[in-house]
Amino acid sequence: MKALILIGGFGTRLRPLSCTRPKALFPIVNKPLLQWTFEKLAENGVDQVILAVNKLTEFHIRQQHLSKCGLTVKYSLDPPKMPLGTAGPIKKAEKLLGHEEPFLVLNGDLITEISYREMLQSHVEGKAVATIALHEAEDPSSYGVAELADCNRIKRFVEKPPRGTEPTKLINAGVYVLSPKIFSYIPADRAVSMEREVFPKLAAENALFGHQVGGLWIDIGKPEEYLQTNRMLLETCCDKLQKNGGFTCKEPVALGKGVSIGENSVIGPHAVLGKNVSVGRNVQIRDSVVFEDAQIGDNAVVVGALVGEAARIGRDAQILEGCVVADHAKVKEGASLTKMHVCPAKEVT
Ligand code: GTP
Repeated sequence: MKALILIGGFGTRLRPLSCTRPKALFPIVNKPLLQWTFEKLAENGVDQVILAVNKLTEFHIRQQHLSKCGLTVKYSLDPPKMPLGTAGPIKKAEKLLGHEEPFLVLNGDLITEISYREMLQSHVEGKAVATIALHEAEDPSSYGVAELADCNRIKRFVEKPPRGTEPTKLINAGVYVLSPKIFSYIPADRAVSMEREVFPKLAAENALFGHQVGGLWIDIGKPEEYLQTNRMLLETCCDKLQKNGGFTCKEPVALGKGVSIGENSVIGPHAVLGKNVSVGRNVQIRDSVVFEDAQIGDNAVVVGALVGEAARIGRDAQILEGCVVADHAKVKEGASLTKMHVCPAKEVT
């Protein structure tokens, strides 16, 4: 099976961390999201992957030297200065995807337990042009919502309905199986939205089907969701490191290679430190993700926050709930921040 991964978006909701890296390369428990995705695709019998990217995203991905897990990986580029949206890149990759068999399309900002094999099976059994994975959400209002008719046919698809007007709680989980007929539904050479243009049209023609999925499903669209994704995966794959010279780890935590931690510091619960992070003495870090090469000074407190690559947090500083400190930013000694976003390379006193 072939899979196309959409990763050419701008990730505006994840700024300022997404100013310097695409969403697909955000580390989840110290492993890039795209690496998690490759592993899952390979486990599900996918052999060819097409990355729908823009030039900058392609550059970042090539720099990472990810393990391809036996997959053949090709790039399909949006034209310069013309993002193609969520459907346009599928049309653009028509030749690479081919007309022989159904293929998988994924949003590149997801961690899921969806079985792609089962989804393909359910697609092939029906008469669908598109089968959408549907996940039940507490608050569906910020997603696409599907209303089902008989035999999992989607009779209506509404993108981001106002809160309280959602027809069901079944949301578009950002994973589709598509038949090659889909190419005739997507105009070429312009941005096209799958959710707003293509799905409603397919639903009206009775060619759109749903496949309900359970288990873990989360996208990293916003900082709090990114933090939550790390929290959830930490529960399944944390390091076992409670006792160490002079500092305490409260599980679950994950420490990258080359991390150094000073005396009397308390790390965790729910803390991820990227490789070569340097933590001073008497520091508290919990419920946070600290990207590689960051430095946290003595007596600092980092709680409920994201600290970018090579950022520097001065001694006695407090980086609290909702803070996002971008790459190479500096927070000076003694500063106390709550719910603040610090831009890349900025200095905050
Ligand atoms: P926000 O700006 O925060 O909404 O993020 P986003 O740009 O990633 O948009 P969204 O989360 O709606 O996108 C869903 C998926 O489609 C993500 O994996 C994006 O990378 C991808 N995507 C969105 N727009 C484009 C595009 O114009 N071209 C390509 N190739 N992929 C896109």
